[in-house]
Amino acid sequence: MKIIAFGASTSRHSINKQLANYAANLVAGAEVEVLELNDFELPLFSEDKEKELGQPDAAKAFYAKLGSCDAIVVSFAEHNGSYSAAYKNLFDWTSRIDMKVFQSKPMVLLATSPGPGGAASVLAAAVNSMPYFGGDIKAQLSLPAFYDNFDVGSGQIIAPEWQDKVKAAMAQLA
Ligand SMILES: Cc1cc2nc3c(=O)[nH]c(=O)nc-3n(C[C@H](O)[C@H](O)[C@H](O)COP(=O)(O)O)c2cc1C
Repeated sequence: MKIIAFGASTSRHSINKQLANYAANLVAGAEVEVLELNDFELPLFSEDKEKELGQPDAAKAFYAKLGSCDAIVVSFAEHNGSYSAAYKNLFDWTSRIDMKVFQSKPMVLLATSPGPGGAASVLAAAVNSMPYFGGDIKAQLSLPAFYDNFDVGSGQIIAPEWQDKVKAAMAQLA
């Protein structure tokens, strides 16, 4: 199984990228590619920019990556209750190539933040809107208090109950 994983953030040390990487690698035998969203940088979307640029290569490349795998793992960063601007911009550009951005792929949707809310608001928004965008959600999970539950040095979840929950979520892809 080929898995594409990414954190929906362009932060250099994105905690969501770390969580997506950890979770995707729990799938035994899977080939995991972790995307870096900075590799898909685009101008701020507007319909005027779209008339000027058409379908930019970065959006086409992101769409092709999503289409090249058997499953997708996304962990969403929450900025003021919603998507990070960088992810939303890439998502908007990609949706103009094909509204079914996620191309019927099985998906696990994750989210985390340093606080107790665990980015649950952005996760709910992603889950609720996914029927429009062609993702087949197999599991969803919000990890609260990232720095209490995840060891950045080893790249592993340290709290046993959260290890079990993430493993159970990832098992839904098998
Ligand atoms: C502009 C801004 C808004 C934020 N809003 C929220 C929020 O609504 N809820 C939350 O849990 N964390 C919020 N945070 C904290 C983020 O969860 C934290 O920066 C986290 O590291 C973002 O994920 P990332 O590291 O994957 O980019 C916010 C951070 C920034 C910079």
